[in-house]
Amino acid sequence: RRKEDGPHVHSKGLNSCLELEFPPTSLGGSSPSPPPFQYPFQLISFSYTPTRELEFTDSALRYYAIPPHGADLSFRYDSWIKRPEERGRLDGLLEACLHERVFPETRRANVISWRGVMTKILTAPYEDRDGWELNVMNVADALYFEEHTTEGKLKEKESMTPRNRLQTYYGYAFESFATSATPSTSDDTSRLPNGWSGDVNTNVQWCSVVKTKLGKMRLLVGGEVDCVKGMSCNKKYTGQPNTFVELKTSMTIRGQTDEARFEKKLLKFYFQSFLLGVPEIVVGFRTPSGRIADLQTFKTIELPRLVRGKKDAWDPNICLSWGDRFLTFLKTSIDELRDQEPNETPIQEGISDAGAHVWRVSFKPGKGVDVRLLDDAGVQEVQNGEDRVGFLPTSYFRKVSK
Ligand code: A3P
Ligand code: MG
Ligand code: MG
Repeated sequence: RRKEDGPHVHSKGLNSCLELEFPPTSLGGSSPSPPPFQYPFQLISFSYTPTRELEFTDSALRYYAIPPHGADLSFRYDSWIKRPEERGRLDGLLEACLHERVFPETRRANVISWRGVMTKILTAPYEDRDGWELNVMNVADALYFEEHTTEGKLKEKESMTPRNRLQTYYGYAFESFATSATPSTSDDTSRLPNGWSGDVNTNVQWCSVVKTKLGKMRLLVGGEVDCVKGMSCNKKYTGQPNTFVELKTSMTIRGQTDEARFEKKLLKFYFQSFLLGVPEIVVGFRTPSGRIADLQTFKTIELPRLVRGKKDAWDPNICLSWGDRFLTFLKTSIDELRDQEPNETPIQEGISDAGAHVWRVSFKPGKGVDVRLLDDAGVQEVQNGEDRVGFLPTSYFRKVSK
């Protein structure tokens, strides 16, 4: 049995670093009692336009529409307008944080992050392959997370193999076949006869910003929502997550190996949806050549029961307990590390606030995470020559740190 007590401090010369280890993920049947999680409440929504402008409208909101059987997910591949790969900046979310409808909650929040980062944190106990790194700041009692992406990693993402690129497109094409710009489905004039609702432009996104609570931590989380329920459903969108729908594609399941692989993927589907309060996930199962062969709707809250007792089962309570420990650990270790630093710390010119520090969290699959304070060179890499305090836009930093 591995240690589950407090974090371990490792002093490596002046560069001290704190480590937090994972609990074992198989506890022989017993599930930890999870910290309370509050159902997400939407504070605001916004849209990215086809030219990637952020606007506080629902112009990018889409409605679910049943996609046709046999739909070809490579349809109009050559017309894909692909948004360039970018660093995991928080800028769009921060714009929402400053909006008058959100700002009071921004001041109360303990954690501000995109949903994708929170999903990575919560699913880390079960991630055995891909490590990740975060940049973290602690400003006016709120932790800000951005994924740390190096130039090398960005280039790697941008130079996808043709096969990977096509498979990525399948996911977006499914969204076009399964949504409509208007809520009607029977007399739907916004879709072509084959169910296509329009060419894929990955600049366009509809995002929801919610407040929620994990344990004692108040979270403000933003993320993309694929669509909301359409007219054929008795519930309609009223500005809250209870009609949100997440769309996914996956290869059809042909045997036990496929099934196990799919059940493993469900962990990510689960937390991605859970964090924004998305109650339903529609999976389009596709053939190897990209045709929709099957549709299945999953209720998010039922997913844990679906995998329970299986060979590679996951337990959401382990993830939530871990997430609670992780956030608490960060809050405490950040103060501790700053106090240990004997040198002058990397605060920028004119910025005297201790909130200007940047921490680097590194996740090692199967082990846990460590956190250290970035030095000047590290902070400069994060700033990337832009007008920022750490990774936050300077104007944002000034508004929240006073
Ligand atoms: P799938 O849903 O079929 O995986 P999301 O499901 O999160 O709304 O994302 C929509 C699509 O974006 C995905 O389709 C996939 O094609 C692409 N996508 C999302 N995350 C990705 C990642 N980390 N790498 C590559 N493609 C990704
Ligand atoms: Mg999406
Ligand atoms: Mg999706």
